[in-house]
Amino acid sequence: MATLGFGIIGCGNISAVHAQALEHIKGAKLVAVADVRQENADKMADEYGAVAYTDYKAMLEREDVHAVSLCVPSGMRVEIAADCAAAGKHILSEKPLEVSTERIDQILEATDKHQVYLGCIFQSRYSDDSQRIREALDAGRFGELVLGDAYIKWYRSPEYYASGAWRGTRKLDGGGCLMNQGIHQIDLLQWFMGPVKTVQAQTTRRLHKGLEVEDLATAMLEFQSGAFGVIEGSTAIWPGHPARIEVHGSEGSAVLEDGKLRQWQFSERQEADSEVEAALHEESALGSGAGDPLASLKIEGHLRNIRDFVQSIAQGKEPVLNGREGRHAVELIEAIYQAADTGKPVHINQQW
Ligand SMILES: NC(=O)c1ccc[n+]([C@@H]2O[C@H](COP(=O)([O-])OP(=O)(O)OC[C@H]3O[C@@H](n4cnc5c(N)ncnc54)[C@H](O)[C@@H]3O)[C@@H](O)[C@H]2O)c1
Repeated sequence: MATLGFGIIGCGNISAVHAQALEHIKGAKLVAVADVRQENADKMADEYGAVAYTDYKAMLEREDVHAVSLCVPSGMRVEIAADCAAAGKHILSEKPLEVSTERIDQILEATDKHQVYLGCIFQSRYSDDSQRIREALDAGRFGELVLGDAYIKWYRSPEYYASGAWRGTRKLDGGGCLMNQGIHQIDLLQWFMGPVKTVQAQTTRRLHKGLEVEDLATAMLEFQSGAFGVIEGSTAIWPGHPARIEVHGSEGSAVLEDGKLRQWQFSERQEADSEVEAALHEESALGSGAGDPLASLKIEGHLRNIRDFVQSIAQGKEPVLNGREGRHAVELIEAIYQAADTGKPVHINQQW
């Protein structure tokens, strides 16, 4: 297949980023879009030269749709993904893959059964500086990992939660400041630090009292490596601060803020480090989700993430950021919720 035809299901906020990214990807083309709300589907179809559907199943009948971007609310993906897989379409899902590991496993079962690829969006992995940390880890530059932290001190207004009936609900959002907002940093933290062994946690509703889900959470982690870690997440802190990841080892430390390196220190300095050091105070090229969800919707991360997915499929290979990879963050967040609910440590013993 020379061109991978895309369909988008769910034409809300994030879908425009998929549509814009697809315009820049050689070998991919947006063909059709579907939304239960006719006006959303029509608007997107007009803007990007696609065909609009209100019933995604009708869209799946198109032979020129080979892959589908799933941009519906998080807890609505299982049934739709099963239909996509049965129709032989590859699936690229927004984060989180679904609202529980049980539901993610149903998606994996369907994609395995019908032999289609499942990719996940975690665009933060694709920033140059995130990749630099990963490469330094692979090269052993941090020495023994000691401590890894994620801080997501964000603000979301009552208007934000009121902007969609699914937001802040257990069933469709799956959780609050961790499952929806903090998941990007939690995914990064695990990508850097590896699987988690044990979790202790507490969660609460500090500001948004009417929600079913948490707007404040803290967790203490022990990684399989023996390193420790902390996660602090909130959507109740005004005005919101850059999301921060810290990776500390016996031979080096790195601090990332909104995808931009702020500290980069190793006991054995390399020549190429000067380029990173010179850029430590530059502004982040990625938007910040600290106070405004739409401000972080720049296309560069998605562009790289979706291009990677398209190229994998063109080569007949499973995407690197695949369904099993996308599952890790949800598994950890589930363990954090369980630890908070029971007040007891949860031994999740993730094995990758
Ligand atoms: N990667 C990121 O940074 C990022 C940012 C924002 C949102 N997201 C994720 O994207 C997903 C959507 O979020 P959003 O903010 O765009 O939500 P949204 O509410 O703005 O859009 C969801 C759209 O899905 C449509 N929809 C609902 N049920 C449908 C169905 N059965 N068939 C077709 N369309 C249907 C709705 O009408 C709506 O237009 C969420 O899972 C969210 O976590 C990711």
